[in-house]
Amino acid sequence: MSYNMHLRDLIFINNKRSIPSEEGIDHSLKLLKEGYQFILNRRYTMDANIFETKLLGETAICLTGSEMAELFYDTDKFKREGAAPKPVQKTLFGEGGVQSLDGEAHHHRKAMFMRVMKPDDLQTIRRLFAKHWQKDARAWEQQDEIQLYEKVKTVLFKAACEWTGVPLEENPEDRADQISEMFETPAHIGIRHLKGWKARSDAEKWMASYVEEVRNGERSDAAGTPLEAFSLHRDHHGELLDAETAAVELLNLIRPITAISVYVAFAALALHEYPEEAAKLQSEEARERFVQEVRRYYPFFPFTAARVKQDFTMGEHTFKEGTLALLDLYGTNHHPDEWENPGRFQPSRFEGWQGTPFQFIPQGGGEFDFGHRCAGEWMTVELLKESVLQLQEHLSYDLPEQNLSFSLTTIPTIPESGIVLKNVQPV
Ligand code: HEM
Repeated sequence: MSYNMHLRDLIFINNKRSIPSEEGIDHSLKLLKEGYQFILNRRYTMDANIFETKLLGETAICLTGSEMAELFYDTDKFKREGAAPKPVQKTLFGEGGVQSLDGEAHHHRKAMFMRVMKPDDLQTIRRLFAKHWQKDARAWEQQDEIQLYEKVKTVLFKAACEWTGVPLEENPEDRADQISEMFETPAHIGIRHLKGWKARSDAEKWMASYVEEVRNGERSDAAGTPLEAFSLHRDHHGELLDAETAAVELLNLIRPITAISVYVAFAALALHEYPEEAAKLQSEEARERFVQEVRRYYPFFPFTAARVKQDFTMGEHTFKEGTLALLDLYGTNHHPDEWENPGRFQPSRFEGWQGTPFQFIPQGGGEFDFGHRCAGEWMTVELLKESVLQLQEHLSYDLPEQNLSFSLTTIPTIPESGIVLKNVQPV
């Protein structure tokens, strides 16, 4: 019997099987070596959508596929408190942010994010992004060649600041670099990782100063912006967030918006590698299918983490309170039980797609309001559609010979060359 059985079978049938377990004392080094494919490789060898391994000196339950994703997002069974490893908190998330909250505290904080994700807000940032892209493209024209990933990082950062209400500084490239250290370094070790720590600590101070200015009435220009809303937000006990936490949450807008540059690099790669698909992009709907497939096909975050909230059993296996659980995002988006030909880039699969919220999970699954699904998923789709439009309709360029391969062991990964463009001309 295959272990890829239904969740309800696992819960209700006393099937005498325990969760397969990987032998050995610790597999953290293998995780570094295998990267995005760590869980996926074991799913194949163990023929299991759930298994145990040892990572960073503790037992970790790995889950993949939509049924296991549904289990993972059950907030009666799993919690986020204490789930993110320290190196990730010190660089990517920051401490005290929405990612680590549970229950009422999470729901209330998440609502603060979802209030700035309304359709009008998304259209505003899309317009700002197009404006900064077109402005910067005039300077790209003067250069012999550009690296798209680096350039788009700055464009996204500028749009993020303007939309959030954060003043733009003299050299936005420097601040954009600092912000990107936070998402480029969490999985590194040594000096590069320490640069990520420093970048976060400096950026939090920078952002906290604006929070204080709003609170002191010194930023009337922030009226109606997320900067104002987050600075004046009161938690579920009616208390203002401390300035550091408000800064962490504002960076939870600016950092991931800047990180969309990773997907823009992959979208440009897909336009180049699948010209027959690129030729079909004549409408918003076609662009939407294309960018959804970019988000499914190319890697970004390998997995997300939670901890068992309280003891529970499935079959004969007991999940012990506090055990680490990792949900395989990349592997679920490539799972052969969920997708036909998962290894093919095929935007048409999203035509009339009727999947569950646990199947297509590049930015997490389940619900937005009560769950931890990414607050910026709609915005990501919107800005990616605009990127594809800019690349196809408003920019002419050559893509010279370069290394377009991407590693599945570097997290996060981008095409090796960063997408070098020559003879760039705004159209
Ligand atoms: C660059 C593309 C993006 C990717 C790949 C991405 C991915 C993710 C993932 C995997 C999670 C965690 C889901 C979970 O743990 O269950 C998440 C959460 C989150 N994301 Fe994104 N994200 C992106 C863009 C954005 C944008 C543009 C924003 C905001 C403007 C954003 C804001 C957030 C927030 C606030 C959370 C925490 C949600 C919570 O804990 O309830 N993300 N994202």
